[in-house]
Amino acid sequence: RVAGPCVLVLFGVTGDLSRKKLLPAIYDLANRGLLPPGFSLVGFARRDWENEDFRQIAYESVKAHARTPFREDVWTHLSEGMHFVPGEFGDPGAFDALSMAVKELDESRGTGGNYAFYLSIPPKFFPQVVEQLQRSGLADRADGAWRRVVIEKPFGRDLKTALELNDTVHRVFPEESIFRIDHYLGKETVQNILALRFANAMFEPIWNRSYIDHVQITMAEDIGIGGRAGYYDGIGAARDVIQNHLLQLLALTAMEEPTSFSAQAVRLEKAKILSSVRVPGDLTTSTARGQYAAGWQGGVSVKGYLEEDGIPADSRTETYAAVKLEIDNRRWAGVPFYLRTGKRLSRRVTEVAMVFQQAPHLPFSHTDTEELGQNALVMRVQPDEGITVRFGSKVPGTSMEIRDVNMDFAYGESFTEASPEAYERLLLDVLIGDPPLFPRQEEVELSWRILDPIEEYWASRGGVDQYTSGGYGPDSADELMARDGRSWRRL
Ligand code: BG6
Repeated sequence: RVAGPCVLVLFGVTGDLSRKKLLPAIYDLANRGLLPPGFSLVGFARRDWENEDFRQIAYESVKAHARTPFREDVWTHLSEGMHFVPGEFGDPGAFDALSMAVKELDESRGTGGNYAFYLSIPPKFFPQVVEQLQRSGLADRADGAWRRVVIEKPFGRDLKTALELNDTVHRVFPEESIFRIDHYLGKETVQNILALRFANAMFEPIWNRSYIDHVQITMAEDIGIGGRAGYYDGIGAARDVIQNHLLQLLALTAMEEPTSFSAQAVRLEKAKILSSVRVPGDLTTSTARGQYAAGWQGGVSVKGYLEEDGIPADSRTETYAAVKLEIDNRRWAGVPFYLRTGKRLSRRVTEVAMVFQQAPHLPFSHTDTEELGQNALVMRVQPDEGITVRFGSKVPGTSMEIRDVNMDFAYGESFTEASPEAYERLLLDVLIGDPPLFPRQEEVELSWRILDPIEEYWASRGGVDQYTSGGYGPDSADELMARDGRSWRRL
């Protein structure tokens, strides 16, 4: 899979995402020989830069963050195709200059009039940029050429704003040209959920309410909000990652087998399962949220959320959220899906754990099975990528004592190839025009339908619980599980 001739126009090229992820990913693609020879990258931002300044910034971010080794010849070739156009997002003159720049590249580098526009900018600028793309003719498809637009989350802050955003983009681009990035779908371990389920015979027969007691989806981070106060405050953990990453994990875990791996078939099944998700009626007992207070992380004292730069002293934004969801279909009726995410927790881990029911009968003495827990199949998304099956095993010795053990598959041990970074995979898919790993409009809307009542409930209730940085989250999250006679897996 190699991309054909094209220009990638990156809006917001000076931002964090661009420096840490996108520019290094483009270099890695070039290094792996996956970009076409004339590939060109145009940066657009509100900076008074020349091409050379852009190349220098890109060089630094490649040096700091690329996954593959630095090769002078690859860099030289890539940087020759890098250009910068300065301008404001609403300035027609700047877009005319952009239009001229890409047309020149079509001539000089044979990019064939194929353009991908990557909007790595705050959503409030989307309408202006989309309008300018249309006005300047950049969005018009020339004969046989393609135009694609790539949108970074957040896709709105609720259903209403998501619908508005979709309307704005649809005014200029048809749905098949819109690539919404949920970078979790670019992760190997996330794609492997479908491989595990549908390429094997042994898991699907037990992947249902007859065997599974409940499912836990965890995305724990040890970092705080860093320099992202402007984006994060007022958004919070649920909108930041439950609406997208965690609900996508839920969809892949719970959906039915698609008829094929075409974008249409996969998205159809994801939409079906998301529309079967039910938010429990009593949100007091089925949700919890918290905000990190000062504490210790890795032996270093860290500030609380309210002391972070740019956060108002009375902010009620949650940095931790837990929700219990049900799925109303034959496979999952009565099996709760518990989702939790938080910043400044004891460690970084993302996983999906299928927790099994107890064996219907244990022909052993109570004392022999005291330490036997529930069987579990854990899909370890990161950082220790792999799969664990947890089950009871006889402890060597003269008694019949049974204790839990783990059987592990680790990516690093079974495969020698290093996984590509999620953004590398997704950027390549955009340039090739391969959409299965990008959420469709309907999935985004269905996810907001799930989250909106929870957000409304939290807003009406006011306060937010506190939890100590470096810990396990607020007590209310543990109480949520305890009420159901369950507990969270250890972080
Ligand atoms: C982003 C969120 O989508 O995902 C961030 O906005 C979060 O708040 C990040 O830190 C985590 O990504 P990853 O790939 O490190 O799990």
